[in-house]
Order: sequence, then C-alpha cells, then structure tokens
Amino acid sequence: MDYQVVVLAAGQGRRMGAGENKVLLKLAGCPVIVHTLRTFDTDPSCQGITLVTREDEQDQFRLLVAHYHITKVRTFAPGGSERQESVYFGLKALKGAPDSIVLIHDGARPFLTHERIKAAAEAAAEYGASLLAVPIKDTVKQAEDFQVERTLERESLWAAQTPQAFRLSLIREAHRKCADINFTGTDDVSLVERLGYSVRIVPGSYRNIKLTTPEDMMIAQVFMERGEE
Ligand code: CTP
Ligand code: MG
Repeated sequence: MDYQVVVLAAGQGRRMGAGENKVLLKLAGCPVIVHTLRTFDTDPSCQGITLVTREDEQDQFRLLVAHYHITKVRTFAPGGSERQESVYFGLKALKGAPDSIVLIHDGARPFLTHERIKAAAEAAAEYGASLLAVPIKDTVKQAEDFQVERTLERESLWAAQTPQAFRLSLIREAHRKCADINFTGTDDVSLVERLGYSVRIVPGSYRNIKLTTPEDMMIAQVFMERGEE
C-alpha cells in the first residue's frame, strides 16, 4: 500500500533535558531523526516524506538529510507551537490525491518497522483512519487530588503510538473542522474520533517507543545494540 508520511521533528525536547532538540541526539552513531527517516527512505511503499522542523533548525535538518543520503524528503514544512499545529502545517505542505494514504509519525520514534507501517497503511485504506497501539501493561487508576476514584478496565485500554494513518481527505477535513471548533487533541486520530468517524487499532510493538525522557535513551541504546528481535 503506497503512502506518504509527515515526520514531526519540530519539538523542543524539554522532558529530555538535553539542551537541544532530542531528535538530533546521537544514537548508535547518528542522530535519532536519521534512524527514523531511514525506515521510510528504505520502504519501497513510501512515496515521499514531508519533514516538519522549526524554521530556525531547518538548515540543520537539510544538511543532515543530504549528509546521510536520505532521498525521499520532498518537502520541508515549518513547525507550530503545538504538535497539532505542526501536523497541520505538514499536511498543508503535502500534495496528494484525496483518497491517497498519509501517515503521521513522531520523529522521536526510531524503532518502527516496515511490517507495522504496512499494517497501519492498509487499515487506513480500509477504515479511513488507523493507529498503532499496544495493550497497557500497568493497572491504571483514575484519581482526583491523590484520591483514587476508580480502576480502569485494563482489558480495554491501549497505549497510542505513531504512525497514525489516514485517507488524506479525512485527516484534512478533521483538522479544518477541529480548528473551527477550537478542539485540541492529544494525538492525530482523536481529531477524527471527535468528528464521529471510526478509527481502527493496529497492534504496534513495545519496541516502538517514543524517546521522551533520559531513561528512554538508555533503553534505545540497548535496542540498537541488540538489533531486531
Ligand atoms: N513535535 C513537533 N512540533 C511541536 C511539538 C512536538 O513537531 N510543536 C514533534 C517532536 O519533535 C516529536 C513528536 O512531535 O518528534 C512527539 O512530541 P514530544 O515527544 O512531545 O516531543 P517534544 O515536544 O520535542 O518533547 P517535550 O514535550 O518534552 O518538549
Ligand atoms: Mg511535546
């Protein structure tokens, strides 16, 4: 299933606390974003990458793309102040037929596989919208001011990952309408959910972690050393 992808790299990496954008940190010898881009660059189904970066970092990313011979970055788009805005700018910059498939992926998730990409893209073609997700491992408590109110049913809980995949016309409509009603979602499919459309879960992988805090970099190091499992 052919697709295009919007890769997000316009964050600040505050929780990583590294003093620079976390996707530029080195992992096994090259920047995190290069690992992420390579996964798409080497996937024959990927028809093009739109890379969203902060404007003041765009030159740095252009150099990286050239230096590491990433060939499929067709467009650079400016980032927004929030992730949702960055996605919006990425979608705006991308060209494609209304029924083509677009994936949205965090630059900070370098452990995605071609197999999972294929599964997400196929589900989006069939259902309109899909996301990778993994069953929650922990028991989740809902609490108010440290007072437990209830325990959520773990069997029905999934932790959302990226990529999240869409028919292009659907995600564009979702962004437009959610902007009109000032709705901000914590991920991309939540905009589609908000409009009442169905979203399909595709089992992801516990290895497809997002590098968020310094501990994640240590885990990532181990994954890199051990390779695919
Ligand atoms: N992102 C983006 N534009 C933003 C915010 C985030 O493109 N305005 C991207 C990040 O670069 C990252 C992905 O979205 O690849 C997931 O976001 P997150 O993990 O929150 O990254 P940061 O926002 O960089 O980290 P933090 O929230 O700790 O500052
Ligand atoms: Mg963030």
